[in-house]
Amino acid sequence: MLVTSVVGARPQFVKLAPVAAALAAAGIDHRIVHTGQHYDERMSDAFFADLTIPAPDHNLEVGSAQHGAQTGEMMIRLEPVLAGERPDWVLTYGDTNSTIAAALVAVKLHLPVAHLEAGLRSRNRRMPEEHNRVLTDHASDLLLAPTELAMANLAGEGLLERSVLVGDVMADVCLRVAGAVGPPALPDSLDPESPYVLATIHRAENTDDPRRLAAIIAALRDQPVPVVLTAHPRLAAKCAEAGIPLSGGSLTTVAPYGYPDMVAAVRGATTVVTDSGGLQKEAYLLGTPCTTVRTETEWPETIAAGWNRLDPELTATATWALPPQPLPTAPRDAYGDGHAAERVAAALAAQA
Ligand code: UD1
Repeated sequence: MLVTSVVGARPQFVKLAPVAAALAAAGIDHRIVHTGQHYDERMSDAFFADLTIPAPDHNLEVGSAQHGAQTGEMMIRLEPVLAGERPDWVLTYGDTNSTIAAALVAVKLHLPVAHLEAGLRSRNRRMPEEHNRVLTDHASDLLLAPTELAMANLAGEGLLERSVLVGDVMADVCLRVAGAVGPPALPDSLDPESPYVLATIHRAENTDDPRRLAAIIAALRDQPVPVVLTAHPRLAAKCAEAGIPLSGGSLTTVAPYGYPDMVAAVRGATTVVTDSGGLQKEAYLLGTPCTTVRTETEWPETIAAGWNRLDPELTATATWALPPQPLPTAPRDAYGDGHAAERVAAALAAQA
């Protein structure tokens, strides 16, 4: 049996790591296609090296563009690759433009498609990720869901028969890496023993309106403890365009961390401020309270458990650096037992 994984963006490399290991352990042939959506060393190669992911068999080198052009170019370059390999499964991950491109090419070639991280919904139809995941779910033959809620969402859309609850592969990789990393690699100016906020901002809804972007950066600068902001290329570009300095006050900006450094930095932080989906969950898994600068989340389990809250209107900036008191004590087990990738391999083998 041959499984071909199609990935392209940073969070997909993280999900690919445990899946590639589980497929290898199960003796399943596996090839990797990298679309080239993310291409900076720190956004791409570092993840393959740090997480010991086999090098991609193909790199389509698509690069950055508007959504339609980027997705279309991926499809054009992916079609001959998948038509040549004719895998038993095309495995897609998450909700990026690389995900929808792979799903569309595969169904048109009549190749079976599996979607990992199926069933998540923000109900926000302005998000590119929401278009990508809803359409990918409906195009796919096998829906690998991370949570009970994701299964319920799929059932509500008539997709239950094609769905399997496998757990969350990000819990697999996060817990494994957390067991191996040392203290956080913070900028020299920071005392690693003192409280700090770890921040990331990259979504269009926060970066593309200069007034909102300025308000978020000002709030980070005004925090009562140091703030370490890891700057996604989009954030750096938008701040440069709008003339917003990424430093001053409490704010120190660093280049994007590799995965082990990110896990160490989240675990060591007093709180996290983010608009990333994956980071909300990593904060929960690592026991660091999180504020999410968005109107909704695909990971409501983190909020129900008391580890995450939404701050869409920036009304809670005064308490971004303050953990809730007392911290929740219930087990943080909403995302499975750390063995989701093995269930992914088993589900693919069972239905090939
Ligand atoms: C993409 C995903 C998003 C995910 C994020 C993780 C889509 C629609 N969005 O958003 O769900 O949370 O990845 O990071 O697929 N850039 C570089 N170097 C790179 C990559 C990007 O400079 O290696 C810059 C380019 O200016 C590019 C911009 O970042 O235009 C945005 O990159 P893109 O891949 O289009 O979307 P992300 O914002 O990264």
